[in-house]
Amino acid sequence: MSKIDWSNLSFGYMKADYNVRCIYKDGKWGDLEISQSEQVNMHMAATVLHYGQAGFEGLKAFRGKDGKIRVFRMDENGKRLISTCRGIMMAELPLEKFEEAVKKVVKLNEHLVPPYESGCSLYIRPVLFGTGPQVGVKPAEEYEFIVFVMPVGPYFKEGFKATPVCILRHYDRAAPFGTGRYKVGGNYAASLIAGEEAHTKGYSAVLYLDAREKKYIDECGPANFFGIREKEYITPESESILPSITNKSLMTLAKDMGMTVEQRRVPVEELLTFSEVGMCGTAAVISPISKIDDLDENKSYVFSEEGKPGPVCTALYNKLRAIQYGDEADKFNWITIIE
Ligand code: PLP
Ligand code: COI
Repeated sequence: MSKIDWSNLSFGYMKADYNVRCIYKDGKWGDLEISQSEQVNMHMAATVLHYGQAGFEGLKAFRGKDGKIRVFRMDENGKRLISTCRGIMMAELPLEKFEEAVKKVVKLNEHLVPPYESGCSLYIRPVLFGTGPQVGVKPAEEYEFIVFVMPVGPYFKEGFKATPVCILRHYDRAAPFGTGRYKVGGNYAASLIAGEEAHTKGYSAVLYLDAREKKYIDECGPANFFGIREKEYITPESESILPSITNKSLMTLAKDMGMTVEQRRVPVEELLTFSEVGMCGTAAVISPISKIDDLDENKSYVFSEEGKPGPVCTALYNKLRAIQYGDEADKFNWITIIE
């Protein structure tokens, strides 16, 4: 670990020493197992390969100034995984097993949790998928759950800097009553082509509109969206977006800071009224947006100079990070300390 250059660490895969696994078979989940392998051995007719029965989560562990390791809101991730399992008919993993697996994998790899000063964190990636064979379109009868970890830096290479995003109206990520509200692999496969087009054109992400009418803002490829207008925090409500735990936390923090919070349909034209806008998520934390180009409509909404986060984004970012790293009291009970 001494070889890691923290200041240049990006968000990417890195081998850790251990991962934790659990198998569902004969109608029940087995015991958690510790593994050092990076491989999965499964049937060629596994439902994950053909019919996309796969869901995942993302959460982080942080090392505080006091050396303690804090995991942020893992119960929320565990509950969301259960909802994902229901959404695509996978065996539901009990919350206690999810939490036990997260604690175990962090403890086993504690030497990989970056030092406080680095500003980096340990990314925790739980993944659950159908391993049982089917050729008819049916849910598998066997599943595997794995949690692996890696130290990470910022998701967008710029870090806490404002970057441009674009609206590409010729792509949808998820259908109105489809799987957008679940964290399933297929949503991300569906977003790759638009994401690549955006990156090639110099944007850090795509901002998706609602697939039905293209009138309202949904979310970004890997993160939720929010807008700031004076003392208001406004974020889309939609049946096709992922309920972000970071967004939920920011809504709590914004209220605590005396702001008004609105979660409702957000028409695209309302962008004209926002002083700051941003993306939020576990990987993205808060990633402020400098401008939004609606490319098919030839419109542009400018919020700040590239690189320059606004004051409200900065205040929210600092507050969230202070709780995550243990610089501020955990007054909402969001933190689990790994003993
Ligand atoms: N929206 C999408 C599509 C995501 O992939 C993520 C990342 O998990 C989020 C939003 C943010 O969710 P969270 O804050 O729970 O990480
Ligand atoms: C996360 O923020 O944890 C995510 O899962 C987003 C991702 C697609 C990297």
